[in-house]
Amino acid sequence: MSTHPRAAIVTGASSGIGLAVTTALCEDGFAVTMSARREARLLEAAATLRASGFAVETVTADAAGEGAAEALVAAHVARFERLDVVVANAGWGNGGSVADASAKDLDRMLAINVAAPFALAKAAIPVLRRHAEDVEGAGEGGDPSSWFVITSSIAGEWPTAGFAAYAASKAASVSLARSIAAEEAANGVRACAIMPAFVATDMTAWLGDTLPAAEMLDAADVAETIRFLLRLSPGASVTELVLRRATAPHPHAP
Ligand SMILES: NC(=O)c1ccc[n+]([C@@H]2O[C@H](COP(=O)([O-])OP(=O)(O)OC[C@H]3O[C@@H](n4cnc5c(N)ncnc54)[C@H](OP(=O)(O)O)[C@@H]3O)[C@@H](O)[C@H]2O)c1
Repeated sequence: MSTHPRAAIVTGASSGIGLAVTTALCEDGFAVTMSARREARLLEAAATLRASGFAVETVTADAAGEGAAEALVAAHVARFERLDVVVANAGWGNGGSVADASAKDLDRMLAINVAAPFALAKAAIPVLRRHAEDVEGAGEGGDPSSWFVITSSIAGEWPTAGFAAYAASKAASVSLARSIAAEEAANGVRACAIMPAFVATDMTAWLGDTLPAAEMLDAADVAETIRFLLRLSPGASVTELVLRRATAPHPHAP
């Protein structure tokens, strides 16, 4: 029996949205396995969380690497024994229209934004299902939250000119979340694609002064949407959730 009330895996957890989500989950009592590629940054983020008394473990890996998903889930289960929530957040994007985008960039975006969450879902679903079964038998007080969440993008709903490969990969990740939701509902596993507009993180630093951070979403806003999902009753599900900027010039603006 796990000594932790709830446990989660977050990829891309060393900065930006992933770190905000990890922090929120820790604050809400989760033990979290955090994963990213650059070890020093990951260890530093984990050390900060541990200093606040939170239970976190790290796995340094490229989410798109061969066998990475299976190894991540195995390391998490070995450490924390249970798995309630997975947030497939690691992602990458580069500009380029259909006419100009390089095939190499497209391959990389499909690998990290689609194939990696797909592989992580495949590895995690048997464990998430087991959790849901355990909870069913746990009676009152058992926590029914078993979720697979993907950080997609508003580009997955409505592409912006010049980001064709990114938009296609993020649209595919929304489809993946919908498939998991449809296939796993009967097994007690829910799935959601969160589709944020611009969030003030390292990923949007290239915008410079063209869009001030104050007009972007905060990474904590994305973390709050995950809190919202986890508070839903077991009979409710949200398969996609678009997070728009309040000052965006039109509803589909990134
Ligand atoms: N910022 C936005 O405006 C925005 C909007 C919509 C959606 N998103 C999505 O949100 C997610 C997180 O982005 P962010 O804005 O928080 O970016 P960020 O601050 O740059 O953080 C990215 C995180 O993912 C990790 N990462 C990147 N590539 C990885 C890989 N191949 N394998 C494992 N870890 C990897 C990074 O660490 P390492 O580099 O050390 O691996 C880091 O921890 C992405 O999926 C992105 O597409 C962002």
